Amino acid sequence: MMREIELHRVSAEPEEYERVSGDAYLYENGALVGFTLESFDPKLTSLLAVADREFRSSRVPKLDMNRITSVVAEDGTKTWKRTAQYSAICGTLPPKPHMRRRFLTRSSLHRAESAKPFAKAMLASSKYLLSLLRQYAPSLHELHMDKMAASVPAEWRFGDGYTSTISNFNISAPIHQDNANVKGTCNAIVCKRTRATGGNLFLPEYGVQFDQPDGSLLFYPAWRNKHGVTEIKPLTPSGFRNSHIWYSIRVDAADDFDAADLPAEKVRTR
Ligand SMILES: [Fe+2]
Repeated sequence: MMREIELHRVSAEPEEYERVSGDAYLYENGALVGFTLESFDPKLTSLLAVADREFRSSRVPKLDMNRITSVVAEDGTKTWKRTAQYSAICGTLPPKPHMRRRFLTRSSLHRAESAKPFAKAMLASSKYLLSLLRQYAPSLHELHMDKMAASVPAEWRFGDGYTSTISNFNISAPIHQDNANVKGTCNAIVCKRTRATGGNLFLPEYGVQFDQPDGSLLFYPAWRNKHGVTEIKPLTPSGFRNSHIWYSIRVDAADDFDAADLPAEKVRTR
């Protein structure tokens, strides 16, 4: 049974945010904008487990983004703690003006033979994700596919309905909006975690935060509103929280991108 949550614009402190978990539809002014699912087709669940396992292996080339934080002891001495963070992108990469690459490219990940099982699992998952979108939210699916048909030529697609995917290991995000995404499309966001808290997507304008347990799925139009991801806190040295995101970039207006709009702006190639 799906819960129905109406999003209202509020001004709330993070500790006051409404927590959303379970299976729920999200509405604003009576119109469906997204939904969350915690259980779905076991075939998709196992494909996502394969994708996540491959992503964490050395078989998938990564974009590296180690985070260094300072830890100050009681006596004032400072030490530095390094937290492993990395990501991997499938499909189309947007132009990067500051790197003088002002044209779309295909992720170099596809040239690595060892990364094929990962890319294959991400691609096969996109088919199941789109069928869930059609099943649970036919109106959002129709809009999504119409927008894809109107603005993304087949050569830049990764599967029928998206241009790209990004997988993130222990990467949270400050408040931002995905302005490089095709307007009207719906991101699919899968969370995989073990022994880690945080890493929850939140919508500051609505005072809402999603719990995103292991294996959960959130369909949300990230182009539409501001959102962020809370700090990730591994509870043991092997704890982690990953997100796998399927999205569509505006290949027709790629020259207009602002560096801040790009999903992987802060990562550098290893
Ligand atoms: Fe985003």
